[in-house]
Amino acid sequence: MSKVIDVELRSLMKKFQNNIVVQDFNLQVEQGEFVSFLGPSGCGKTTTLNMIAGFLDPDGGDLLIKGQRMNGVPPYKRELGMVFQTYSLFPHMTVAENIAYGLKLRKISKSQIQERVGRVLDLVKLPHVADRYPKQLSGGQRQRIAIARALVIEPSLLLLDEPLSNLDAKLREELRDELKRLHQEIGVTTIFVTHDQEEALSLSDRIVVMNHGFIEQIGTPKDIYNRPASEFVHTFIGKTNRLEGEVAGHEGDSLIIQTIGGLLVEAKSANLMLLPGQKATVFIRPEKIRLSADTAPEGRNRANGQLKLSSFLGSYTECEVQANGHSISVKLQTVDKGVELVPGKAVSCSWDAEDVLVMPAERG
Ligand SMILES: Nc1ncnc2c1ncn2[C@@H]1O[C@H](COP(=O)(O)OP(=O)(O)OP(=O)(O)O)[C@@H](O)[C@H]1O
Ligand SMILES: [Mg+2]
Repeated sequence: MSKVIDVELRSLMKKFQNNIVVQDFNLQVEQGEFVSFLGPSGCGKTTTLNMIAGFLDPDGGDLLIKGQRMNGVPPYKRELGMVFQTYSLFPHMTVAENIAYGLKLRKISKSQIQERVGRVLDLVKLPHVADRYPKQLSGGQRQRIAIARALVIEPSLLLLDEPLSNLDAKLREELRDELKRLHQEIGVTTIFVTHDQEEALSLSDRIVVMNHGFIEQIGTPKDIYNRPASEFVHTFIGKTNRLEGEVAGHEGDSLIIQTIGGLLVEAKSANLMLLPGQKATVFIRPEKIRLSADTAPEGRNRANGQLKLSSFLGSYTECEVQANGHSISVKLQTVDKGVELVPGKAVSCSWDAEDVLVMPAERG
């Protein structure tokens, strides 16, 4: 069966005055897919979403929804549900009236409206708040109602602009799981904007990583995490160790890098186009590093040093090791026994060649 493309952005561009804020944006979103736009504040996420919704007109390129060119088509003709970044429900309407609003505009019968409002309230697990006013709800409940209101029109496309950003950490996580469940249940094509890596990783089929109005990478969460296309993507998506050095040579499918601190790092399946003598940067995620108390002679992918800091964070412990002039972060599962994490202790860090990422040093 061939794939159905619900949304297509072709070289989309947007500028405000002379300032280009979205550029050369190309993306195809399949029917039923959950795609996230992830990037730092100001990178153009809301602007791009607003072009898809029809609140902004592109200054270049084409936008297609279900194969139809949509440039210039007003939002209400696009059959989409949207939850805005700074959205408030209509304060003078009850929850049920808020949700029913879009259905009334569509001239749907009273009994139908009642049934559909009841159904989406069940879906977001808030059937008991139908008669309350927004100010009588918690922040999390309000966001769930905003989502219910977007879903009730049975949109062919759901657009969510940081719907969880104003909630505290625990509630965020709860609602995140709920969004995931909702998407699995109803399968509506969804575009979700966030600057939170974890949210994007946990919810998405694919992530579009954006930076300064450009797409840095499009890929599955695993691709983005394990095979980042750029240093920006790698560092934006999680904590990492960054060691500068230069290429010492090749060995089979391994690349050997000597760091400025004198460590020898072996990387498997690295970019073998890097030439001996070329400046390169090595990245190793903290959770890929092991700590041991035995300080056998230093070798490849092994650094002896001193434990500087350890912070117990419940399910894991974060350590900082000073070795060869490098400060190395290590993330240990708290179940790990073995090394006693006393600052000042001599320890050895080691990692696997498969877990090393190498990129040519950025110029400048
Ligand atoms: N109406 C406007 N007029 C002029 N500049 C604008 C306008 N709207 C947005 N911008 C600029 O466009 C850029 C992208 O803004 P956008 O709101 O898309 O960012 P964002 O990625 O959603 O950021 P955030 O995570 O902070 O919401 C920013 O530099 C912003 O200042
Ligand atoms: Mg925004």
